[in-house]
Amino acid sequence: MKSSTWYFLVWCIGFSLITTGLSQLQVVGQKEPIIALLGDDVILPCFLRPSTSAVDQTVEWQRRDLTPKEVHYYSDGRDNPDVHNPVYKGRTRLFEEELKSGNMSLKLTGVKHTDNGFFTCFVPKLVSTVKTSVIQLIVGAVSQPVISIVGPKDYGVVLKCDSGGWYPEPEMTWEDSDGNILPGGPTETETDSESRYTVRGHVTIQKTDNNMFTCRVQQHQINHKMETQIIVPGGVFPWSRGQKAGLIIGVLAPLAVAVLVGLYMWRKQSKFDIDL
Ligand SMILES: *[C@@H]1O[C@H](CO)[C@@H](O)[C@H](O)[C@H]1NC(C)=O
Repeated sequence: MKSSTWYFLVWCIGFSLITTGLSQLQVVGQKEPIIALLGDDVILPCFLRPSTSAVDQTVEWQRRDLTPKEVHYYSDGRDNPDVHNPVYKGRTRLFEEELKSGNMSLKLTGVKHTDNGFFTCFVPKLVSTVKTSVIQLIVGAVSQPVISIVGPKDYGVVLKCDSGGWYPEPEMTWEDSDGNILPGGPTETETDSESRYTVRGHVTIQKTDNNMFTCRVQQHQINHKMETQIIVPGGVFPWSRGQKAGLIIGVLAPLAVAVLVGLYMWRKQSKFDIDL
């Protein structure tokens, strides 16, 4: 073969690879998880690329870890709620108008803790090698921390902070009113039967100008923090070494001197009386 023929062949193969690569219809979702808080409504994205009508497709949204696995089932131009998992009955819908442009995103209302997991968007009859896309839903839960005073310890006061019902697992930090992080003890973590986290931590604080302290619980993945402040009454703090020394030098010592002087004077006085 002549080299020009070779060039032509290579060009043809390259061209067809590029064009099929570009026009290869596929299901596309989103790599990053969808983050929501308990009770929110969410949209789980799923599209046909390049944009092609999905009206005549079968569109299945599934939780493959559940039985039945159907979250939403659309086929022959209509929804078929009878096959939906009971957990999702009445909580899902596709955007009818959007299907024409290949937008098969699912609206899920009132997310619950049990919606945490992976959702598969599946277009079984699509002539393509990429018929599915998987998206993770993280349903966060938060709660207000509660601070209590445990009692005096050494020259400080021990505080305790509790916060239950979190998801995913949060972090706890202590701060004074100037924003200095205080070295708290290790945070204890428990999970309940619904795998929600309760965290508990202690800190020993020293007197400050205003005795104001903050317990902060935060979860970076869901970008949420909750905090509670406490003002510890000054009387709760035990006496410091300095205060004890001050008491001895400032009050007890002069008192003792006064008593001794008084005794001496009295003795002298009574002697005088006897001498009379
Ligand atoms: C798909 O439809 C939903 C609901 O109307 C919309 O929020 C979303 O932006 C649409 N996505 C695209 C890529 O058009």
